[in-house]
Amino acid sequence: MRTRITELLGIERPIIQGGMHFVGLAELASAVSNAGGLGIITALTQPTPAALAAEIARCRSMTDKPFGVNLTFLPVRTPPDYAGYIRAIIDGGVKIVETAGNNPQQWMPLLKDAGIKVIHKCTAVRHALKAQNIGCDAVSVDGFECGGHPGEDDVPNFILLPRAAEALKVPFIASGGMADARSLVAALALGADGINMGTRFIATQEATVHENVKQAILAATELDTRLVMRPLRNTERVLVNKAVERLLEKERQLGAAITFADIVSEVGGVYPKVMQNGELDAGAWSCGMVAGLIHDIPTVRELMDRIMNEAEHIVSQRLAGMFATAPAH
Ligand SMILES: Cc1cc2nc3c(=O)[nH]c(=O)nc-3n(C[C@H](O)[C@H](O)[C@H](O)COP(=O)(O)O)c2cc1C
Repeated sequence: MRTRITELLGIERPIIQGGMHFVGLAELASAVSNAGGLGIITALTQPTPAALAAEIARCRSMTDKPFGVNLTFLPVRTPPDYAGYIRAIIDGGVKIVETAGNNPQQWMPLLKDAGIKVIHKCTAVRHALKAQNIGCDAVSVDGFECGGHPGEDDVPNFILLPRAAEALKVPFIASGGMADARSLVAALALGADGINMGTRFIATQEATVHENVKQAILAATELDTRLVMRPLRNTERVLVNKAVERLLEKERQLGAAITFADIVSEVGGVYPKVMQNGELDAGAWSCGMVAGLIHDIPTVRELMDRIMNEAEHIVSQRLAGMFATAPAH
């Protein structure tokens, strides 16, 4: 399939694996790239820029196809060594970066001078326009359904994607709630040039997360996510569990007075415990509503072959058939 995104990124299929903390490691990223999509390593999962450099080298030993690195700009007082991580990306020869969390303007000259294509992931049309204006090559538009941080506007993809199509000139990728061929065809119909999947890729053979996490996603329905940290304007969509219930109770009780310190036991240092040790109740961890559409744990290639084959069937059979001339009576 050819779209503006496959052309821009030099990939065969318009399917991207979004950066995911403690999930976006070389195994998953290389599997997605080897299956014709774009795999993405998550920079901040690596404790240091040197560790990111090693992870990039490991990924390169597993694929000769393009892959990217996610840089998440966190709302924290003492930021990680972003300059160091960017140096590791440039020195590692990575040519695609997914930015998220905050406007990447400060880092654009460094990235662009190194010939890197920047995809900025954001949740509002005004932020997408800003990304376009500061020179981002593409935008990932993350709807309200998404796992992780959906922003504060709560606009679902049935509105957000066509609004993005109306407003943007650069190619854009539909993110949030994408699981299968139906998602891909719908996203393309709404004006997107490809899809970005998070939660769906966790439930694959190659994702190096604890089996408990994959089984939890399989067991979850579309009703099992919650929005946490809304009072802190740092909303995150997570899978419901005991820690999340406790966190929401604190939010109800403390109201507007709540601070990060009040909830650090539910949101601090959670990812290694969940993703590596399988301690599902260790705290709040991101998961999309799309969990309700995930019923198996295929290999990445099986998943992506299925999406492409079924998408072709939907377009050329199901949809084209609806336009076929009715038989004469
Ligand atoms: C477990 C998990 C961790 C994530 N971590 C990050 C992250 O560190 N940085 C980021 O930009 N997005 C992160 N995301 C968001 C994904 O990249 C993607 O935008 C989102 O999952 C899309 O929604 P979906 O889950 O419905 O496919 C994470 C998502 C999940 C499920």
